[in-house]
Amino acid sequence: MKHLLSAGDLSRDEAVLILDTAEQLLSVAQRPIKKLPTLRGRTIVNLFFEDSTRTRISFEAAAKRLSADVINFSAKGSSVSKGESLKDTALTLQAMGADAVVIRHHASGAPHRLATSEWTKGAVVNAGDGTHEHPTQALLDAFTMRSRLGDLAGKNVTIVGDVLHSRVARSNALLLDTLGANVTLVAPPTLLPVGVETWPVETSYDLDASLEKADAVMMLRVQRERMNASFFPSAREYSRRYGLDVARMNRLPDHAIVLHPGPMNRGMEINADVADSDRSVIVEQVTNGVAVRMAVLYLLLGGATEGETA
Ligand code: NCD
Repeated sequence: MKHLLSAGDLSRDEAVLILDTAEQLLSVAQRPIKKLPTLRGRTIVNLFFEDSTRTRISFEAAAKRLSADVINFSAKGSSVSKGESLKDTALTLQAMGADAVVIRHHASGAPHRLATSEWTKGAVVNAGDGTHEHPTQALLDAFTMRSRLGDLAGKNVTIVGDVLHSRVARSNALLLDTLGANVTLVAPPTLLPVGVETWPVETSYDLDASLEKADAVMMLRVQRERMNASFFPSAREYSRRYGLDVARMNRLPDHAIVLHPGPMNRGMEINADVADSDRSVIVEQVTNGVAVRMAVLYLLLGGATEGETA
């Protein structure tokens, strides 16, 4: 594996290897000195064309904990505002010797374009492209679920909300299917994408009906910035039918957990008391995200450079 573009590209063995490697790397975060020499001398560029808090700092922390040199590029305040293309930006970064490029872009397919071009020689990691995919988010979600629930084979995962605009939902559906879990997508009909019947999932419009058998519930952010029409009557109507409140949460089995990729709209798709409850693993997802991204960078860049032992 040279790049990580889609969660669907991972075989079961590859996915499990990433999760197992992340489990070992998680212990680094508990040490007083949170650093390994593994990627010393390697350069990783974080290329962010879209706003991000946790994904960008998570990749940055992951690269730094492996001792790589990190260059953070965000489109705002760069020559992209002057009209520079992805190609010219990538060529510039290549000229600086990037071993890996972590890219977030508003256009679905941008990481794929970069990986199949001559513009960069390094590994390309998709950190979220448009409404398409976000494979490291799915990996950190799987990691978090696995650590709380055990092997994911046969587990029921319910993903709720704005599936239409969610790269997290697509990547999760693909990865969870590979890992043997049963996925149910719950959304209003207007927020399910065309072609969802070809995904390896079941779909439902009824949240209450799917709660009793869920081992994990993943709430998705309502992505207003990507909405160009009215997809539901009102925010109040949406949260009444598709929001997770305490009454709904109490209908989950005792062992069930609640996930959210963040950023949350508290009061919209998730109630504040649910977000802060014992069942919520939202903060754990962030911690695990660093370990999972360390594992991805480590496995893609292969640890020691040729002729050198780390
Ligand atoms: C997600 C994203 O950017 O796709 N967030 C994240 O990476 N933590 C989900 C979202 O924006 O709602």
